[in-house]
Amino acid sequence: MYDFDTPLSREGTSAEKYTARRRLFGREDILPFWVADMEFAAAPVIREALAARINHPVYGYTSVPESLVEAIIRWNNRRYSLSPARDSVTLVPGVMAAVSAAIDVLSEPGDAIVVQPPLYPPLMSTVLKNSRQMIENPLILRGGGYCMNFDELERLLKIHRPRIMLLCSPHNPVGRVWKREELVRLVELTEPYGVFVVSDEIHADIIFAPHRHISLLTIDEKMNNRIILLNSASKSFNVAGLNTAYAIIPDRKLRTSFRRQLRRWNLHGVNLLGMTALEAAYRDGEEWLEALLRYLHSNIQFMTGTLDRELPRLQYFTPEGTYLYWLNFNSLGLAPRQIREKLIDEAGVGLNDGVTFSQAAEGFWRFNFAAPRAMLEQGLERIVRVFS
Ligand SMILES: Cc1ncc(COP(=O)(O)O)c(C=O)c1O
Repeated sequence: MYDFDTPLSREGTSAEKYTARRRLFGREDILPFWVADMEFAAAPVIREALAARINHPVYGYTSVPESLVEAIIRWNNRRYSLSPARDSVTLVPGVMAAVSAAIDVLSEPGDAIVVQPPLYPPLMSTVLKNSRQMIENPLILRGGGYCMNFDELERLLKIHRPRIMLLCSPHNPVGRVWKREELVRLVELTEPYGVFVVSDEIHADIIFAPHRHISLLTIDEKMNNRIILLNSASKSFNVAGLNTAYAIIPDRKLRTSFRRQLRRWNLHGVNLLGMTALEAAYRDGEEWLEALLRYLHSNIQFMTGTLDRELPRLQYFTPEGTYLYWLNFNSLGLAPRQIREKLIDEAGVGLNDGVTFSQAAEGFWRFNFAAPRAMLEQGLERIVRVFS
């Protein structure tokens, strides 16, 4: 019913995944599997809603429609069993803008903030750009998968007394969907230290059965006054270029400060078309999203099958959520420089270099598989050819 198979040319759209290839990889003919957007057309319901809005020729200042807040509440309720109060929702021009505002509101320069690398790089650079002290609690490998290191977290909380912990849930780049027990443990550990948790749940809709996204706001109601939850339709519905996201902040005082901060930076106005797309996605886009998830899941099966058959020594981490594979090329016995040369110069594929997610992740690369099967096949064929 929906076509995820036909490759789309992004020529002439200034898509960053393509325009930044020379800067990042030194050549323009790279087949890109890096930036986390998808090579798919947005859902028809979104395109129709945008077209209808564009058809009205005045694009002036626009307030947040009640119907949009309603759609956000219903989506959160249906998909994550969350019942946010109407007033707890704040529209923002992006998840990362909201992270900056949260950091500014909850801490002072020099204060400690905990992050868990390997991690989406802007979550770390935003801490540093705001002159906060970044405390790393690296994820650990246990039983072939990544986990949070709670013992180390407790030690770091005691020593550094951080103001904030930035949680990425599901976790980009390793694709973990945190289990309820893990989130309970996190909440219990941080509680005595009064740490605020900023929970970036932007990948919450891209989850593969039997895993389920557990919203941090459903762990313990008493804890919710220390949480800022961030989400958007950007990842799930491929509308990142519309720069629209939202925060859910149950605590009244906290959200008042958060909104004041956005106003101080003049970041309180939200893009009209972004709001139109978000409302259409959340109101009418669920069927498309389910079809997308089935397609992504078949891509996972294809990728796993190909890697097991053709590169059995390559260590990979199948995502529980997100459309990102985390690949450990070190397992092939090559040096990081050789891996880079093989991927970029010989195979001509563009993945995200692991070192941008963690200093310790040299030789790891992140592969975005949200692409038509034909493109995925081509990319994997090239990788298999140079590494087998
Ligand atoms: C974990 C995570 N947070 C935030 C973002 C970016 O969000 P925004 O474009 O709304 O700032 C991304 C994009 O890849 C992401 O993966």
